Amino acid sequence: MLPMREVLEFPEHFLFGTATAATQIEGHCEDTDWAAFAREPGRIRGGDTPAVACDHLHRFREDVAIQQQLGLGAHRLSLEWARLEPGEGDFDPAAWDHYREVLGAHRDAGITPMVTLHHFTIPRWLAARGGLANPELPRLLSRFAAHAVEALGDLCTLWITINEPNVVASHGHLLGVWPPAHHAPIEAFRVLQNLLAAHDAMYRAMHDTASQRGHDLAAGVAHHLRIIEPDDTGRVADRAWTALYEWLFNGWFAGAVCERKTHDFFGLNYYSRDLVRFAPERFREAFLERNVRAGAEVNDLGWEIYPEGLGQLLDLWAPRAGVPVYITENGLPDDDDDQRPRFLVRHLAEVARALQRGLDVRGYMHWSLLDNFEWAEGYAPRFGLVHVDYETQTRTPRPSAALYARIARERRIDDATWAAIGA
Ligand code: FCB
Repeated sequence: MLPMREVLEFPEHFLFGTATAATQIEGHCEDTDWAAFAREPGRIRGGDTPAVACDHLHRFREDVAIQQQLGLGAHRLSLEWARLEPGEGDFDPAAWDHYREVLGAHRDAGITPMVTLHHFTIPRWLAARGGLANPELPRLLSRFAAHAVEALGDLCTLWITINEPNVVASHGHLLGVWPPAHHAPIEAFRVLQNLLAAHDAMYRAMHDTASQRGHDLAAGVAHHLRIIEPDDTGRVADRAWTALYEWLFNGWFAGAVCERKTHDFFGLNYYSRDLVRFAPERFREAFLERNVRAGAEVNDLGWEIYPEGLGQLLDLWAPRAGVPVYITENGLPDDDDDQRPRFLVRHLAEVARALQRGLDVRGYMHWSLLDNFEWAEGYAPRFGLVHVDYETQTRTPRPSAALYARIARERRIDDATWAAIGA
């Protein structure tokens, strides 16, 4: 007889959902730094731009209907700051109405929204004035955040101030592969500090506005955390660079927010593991080479698939955070959907086991609902539970969407789930 396979359950209040970001799906906003960056030759793979993306701006009702059909009860989306404040201090009422319609559509479909205020992109007027390095950032972002709670706070309770501050600071200001394409380590650290000040200011401004208006509000950061290990444990330089990368990239921002207690929940974006090699020849990449364990399974972008890492990060950060945790992103590029079913089940199993260990995890948002504009990688990587044909804008759920829908509906991983992934 076959041994019984593990049955894992999710509590009634646990949110199963998907995550997206404005620039990656909406299209039709020329006022962001990314719209300008994408027009510079050689910046984006294949010369792609976010000009149309998934045309979600016009098709959001169809996309909400897909979520509803799948029975996914939560969705993380972001507001396009540049659309809402196209000139400094100049808020566009029609754009705010648009997001009221989007959030209203989610409410009508019974889907709990989680709204991100800053997901990588900034308005061009800010980019022209130093962007994320501008010392006025905390004031500018907290004014935008207060306005958002004022305008949308009756439609949304869960808010993310900033998405992946460590990624936006390092890619834009250290590695130079995202706007403003600087190779400036000191500036990158200044941006990180500036984003922390901005987060604190946003957190306070949002709570002030919510309490004046009588809205419930919970706010946090979506932290990008990786598993970071030395490539060669016998090599002192690899161990030292691992410690430095762990401290700066994983630990610095998330640790500061935990210490300051300026969050009501901890958002965790988890993708992969890095094996760190100190590489003196890689001057422009901070002497860092990130490798993958030999023989490891990798996704379409070559990132290692390492589900156990999610459990490890939850063990480390949930107690430190002292607030509930949401998995605010987790997913992979997998065009033919031959890895996504196993990926989903194995990562969700890590979450369920963390719940069994008593950790307070409240939800899981899969990245992503739709194929989308993957920043400098363009449209080639396919992260969607739902395939998008960019010629016709036809949406077609991949098989993994049905599997995820079933887990969400039954709130469990059982024999049939393991059988579905051939485990
Ligand atoms: C994360 C970003 C998200 C998406 C995924 C694949 O770092 O937050 O926008 O690009 O990676």
